[in-house]
Amino acid sequence: MTRAGAKIGRVLFTKEEIEARLDVLAGEIQERYAGGELTVVAVLKGSLFFTADLMKRLKIPVRMDIIEISSYSGGVTPAPSGEKTLSKYIADDVHDRDVLVVDDILDTGGTLAEVLGLLRAENPRSLATCVFLVKKRKRRLKVPIDFCGFEVKARDFVVGYGLDYAQRYRNLPYLAVLKGVGKSKRGTKTSSRRKPAAVKKTRRKTASGERTGDSRKKRRPRPVSSGRRRKRGGRS
Ligand code: IMP
Ligand code: MG
Repeated sequence: MTRAGAKIGRVLFTKEEIEARLDVLAGEIQERYAGGELTVVAVLKGSLFFTADLMKRLKIPVRMDIIEISSYSGGVTPAPSGEKTLSKYIADDVHDRDVLVVDDILDTGGTLAEVLGLLRAENPRSLATCVFLVKKRKRRLKVPIDFCGFEVKARDFVVGYGLDYAQRYRNLPYLAVLKGVGKSKRGTKTSSRRKPAAVKKTRRKTASGERTGDSRKKRRPRPVSSGRRRKRGGRS
């Protein structure tokens, strides 16, 4: 898939529509976690704007952590093997905490399934999910979604409000279809199709016993080779 021919198409949700939906979502989240403290884990990079705007609306005590994981090799097409790169893992202990994973979009579910698997192993008190978008499609992986912003068609490749194509268009304040990418009526293959794959948890302990994310150790993201994949989770 090349970048040539990609062009911003139909606007699906305007800035105002997104803001109105965020107000509703924040209300639902507050209601669920009223009286407690919430730990939001943002799945970067796509959920950056969504997480920030959502958190600003929450009137309950909130902590924040980050996971960075990517399905794409070179930012344009998914790695052929479906491998994912985990370049940042949570820095704080979430044991016995109420954790809400916030992601940009649920497509095959592979990314979120992996993230949930990693966090479940940390023994949080509760683990829930909030996604800005859900693609309407059949999914072999059943990923529980507790809070959802909008649904979009599976054939559309969407950009804006944090979502990218080859690392571009994240800064658009609205969500739009990217023309020339995705499954057109002629049946062009979409770049959003990908096989989920397991990733290896990379949090380490320092010599002093302190837990630390992998990004502190290595600056460059590491693809996870098939030999080190975990059996649980991914499809490929
Ligand atoms: P999944 O693992 O197949 O659920 O894919 C989730 C990830 O794929 C998202 O977090 C996005 O980064 C990316 N993705 C899937 N569909 C789109 C799209 O339409 N536009 C931009 N990114 C997408
Ligand atoms: Mg993502």
